[in-house]
Amino acid sequence: MTALLEVRNLNKHFGGLHAVKNVSFSVERGEILGILGPNGAGKTTLYNLLTGFIAPDPGARMVFDGQDLLGRPPHRIAGLGISRTFQLCRPFIGMSVLENVIVGGLGSRRSKGDDLDARAQALLGKVGLAGKERVPVEVLSYGDQRRLEIARALAARPALLLLDEPFAGLGSGEIADLSALIRQVHAGEGLTVVLIEHKLREFMRLVGRVIALDFGEVIAQGSPEAIVQHPAVIEAYIGRDPAGTEPAHAA
Ligand SMILES: Nc1ncnc2c1ncn2[C@@H]1O[C@H](COP(=O)(O)OP(=O)(O)OP(=O)(O)O)[C@@H](O)[C@H]1O
Ligand SMILES: [Mg+2]
Repeated sequence: MTALLEVRNLNKHFGGLHAVKNVSFSVERGEILGILGPNGAGKTTLYNLLTGFIAPDPGARMVFDGQDLLGRPPHRIAGLGISRTFQLCRPFIGMSVLENVIVGGLGSRRSKGDDLDARAQALLGKVGLAGKERVPVEVLSYGDQRRLEIARALAARPALLLLDEPFAGLGSGEIADLSALIRQVHAGEGLTVVLIEHKLREFMRLVGRVIALDFGEVIAQGSPEAIVQHPAVIEAYIGRDPAGTEPAHAA
């Protein structure tokens, strides 16, 4: 069976900065793939390229489920079945929690025919926000905003969910809850997941395979166990933290 997502020769320059360098990889159906790398390694830029927020340099190939992603705007890519969350939560201010999730389901080919209101209610229950449907998003706690991001991303019924540091800023109890939620949607909704995360302990438990980036380049790929022992990864990332759990520069 072919991979769900195939990326070849992906490059991105921001002026003189080569932020993503000759990146090629595949995402297999049903896996949880981890993306590891120090601050500035190009992880979020990779998501921005995949989801059409920015265009890659010429010569790239990005094929999702048999469809070419090149040249498509973000809403079309979302409609094909790729949803993302943002490193910094981006709720729609001025709307309720429920409305935020409903908007997430609009325009997706895959959620066509859904009762968006009912689906949004169900998703809010799943992420632990039941009872907060009518609350304006502005008053949500930070942890609740992170849950809302996931409910909103799931409203489009994605086949591929891209998570950008979902645990950032959360306490250990909240991280455990969110981790369980990611496992649950992965198994229950048959989702393929890509996870960027600096919280290595949870990351290692969640992912089946890891791609390590440094200065925009893939420096290693393999099982989580193999990756944390890989010399290039230790040098680029883990070696900068004596405890081996967090990069010193990531709060
Ligand atoms: N729109 C942009 N314009 C110019 N430079 C950018 C832009 N977006 C990202 N960069 C630069 O590209 C590099 C990669 O940034 P990116 O945000 O992808 O890193 P990251 O791996 O997600 O890091 P972090 O772990 O801190 O989130 C950084 O040097 C960043 O400053
Ligand atoms: Mg980032």
